[in-house]
Amino acid sequence: MLDKFKSRELFDLFTVLVAAITLAMFSVSLRLIDRIYNFFAKFSTLPIAEFIINVGLLTLMGLLWLTYRYWREASEKAAELEKIVDSISPDVLIVVDPSRNILKCNRSIERAFGYSPDEVINQKTEILYSDRRPDPGKGIEICEALKREGFHIGLAMGKKKNGETMPLEIITGRLSAGDGAVLLLRDITERKRAEEEKSKLEAKLQQVRKMEALGTLAGGLGHELRNPLGAMKNTVYFLNMALKEPSPDIKEALGILNKEIETSEGVIKSLHDFTRPVAPARLKVDVNDIVQAAMNRVPVPEKIQVVTRLNEALPNIPGDPEQLIQAFRNFILNAFQAMPEGGRLVVKSEAPSEEQVTVSFTDRGEGMDEETLRNAFEPLFTTKAKGMGLGLALTEMLIEAHGGTIDVESEVGKGTTFTIKLPIGENKQG
Ligand SMILES: Nc1ncnc2c1ncn2[C@@H]1O[C@H](COP(=O)(O)OP(=O)(O)OP(=O)(O)O)[C@@H](O)[C@H]1O
Ligand SMILES: [Mg+2]
Repeated sequence: MLDKFKSRELFDLFTVLVAAITLAMFSVSLRLIDRIYNFFAKFSTLPIAEFIINVGLLTLMGLLWLTYRYWREASEKAAELEKIVDSISPDVLIVVDPSRNILKCNRSIERAFGYSPDEVINQKTEILYSDRRPDPGKGIEICEALKREGFHIGLAMGKKKNGETMPLEIITGRLSAGDGAVLLLRDITERKRAEEEKSKLEAKLQQVRKMEALGTLAGGLGHELRNPLGAMKNTVYFLNMALKEPSPDIKEALGILNKEIETSEGVIKSLHDFTRPVAPARLKVDVNDIVQAAMNRVPVPEKIQVVTRLNEALPNIPGDPEQLIQAFRNFILNAFQAMPEGGRLVVKSEAPSEEQVTVSFTDRGEGMDEETLRNAFEPLFTTKAKGMGLGLALTEMLIEAHGGTIDVESEVGKGTTFTIKLPIGENKQG
């Protein structure tokens, strides 16, 4: 369409040139007028030659003026159209021929892709985004939508001049049959980010609701079980005292009973922590001390080696020592459980910036597959026969209450790294 417009301009220019040349030739021929006039004067007394010459001259001048006006209007319209096309910002507008060669594009391309319009004109569209047509289904879908509705809205991966990529929405409109298409390319990075943020928030909200329901259930359950467990514990204590010389079998049975009661109490405590999440205290905390305290609370299995790489120059952070010990203990426990055949746990503390302190737990255990990784922080998700699936959910709650985050990297058969980032806050100099 724009091209037709351009060729019309050229045609007008051509007409003006022809008219000018004709006029020039005519003016040259005016020198001969005298002779021509004398020639006609021989045949007639009327000043016919002069009349014809004057009329011809006036007509030519009028024609020239009209053509000039017409040409000016056309170029003004072309410039206006160009301005409109350029003002479609920040979207990039390109016109392509049927072979997807770029014929025209607006200035937004500089900001969006880093190319100047001249750099992309006459290039294939692949310079701007990955071709969607190699996927035959996609190609057919686009063609059919264009035939049926005259436009198609799709997605593609955009490529900037500096090699960066960005998600693109492409609105394709068909020009008249066989003339190619006009495409509007929109960078949807921000939209995607907002969508991801929204779905993360929704997932969080769902988790909070789940926790609430779990909390109510756990509160009731804990209340009901605490008394019978207390009574059982007292009974075991009483039997231990009453039986002066119990047989080894009875002694072992009482030991098992006591251990199971303690396990049950531990479960009730974990559940109880969900019912009443306590806001963390904000004491000055040395993260290395917390790591040591957490390690002291978990006996190290025989075949496991624990390596600590603690940065001694860590700044203190504001936090709740007991809650942080509980959180770190869960990572250590999980790491040990992931290495039933033995292995190595590396615990590292660092201060990568002035804003945060990080602690990482790297094991060489079984690792997590995609599904486990996706659900690991879900309350009640467990892959262990004796697991409750509360460790990481509770830990995440505690770390987030400290304004921190947890990153996980895991590979099946190779191991897992949990990295906890905790803000230093205003306690920097601590
Ligand atoms: N270091 C790890 N290596 C491999 N898998 C892990 C690791 N840590 C957690 N997981 C996986 O995440 C799941 C959830 O962990 P979480 O600590 O929440 O529960 P759990 O350990 O199964 O039970 P609980 O901690 O309540 O006793 C685990 O069952 C396990 O599949
Ligand atoms: Mg656990």
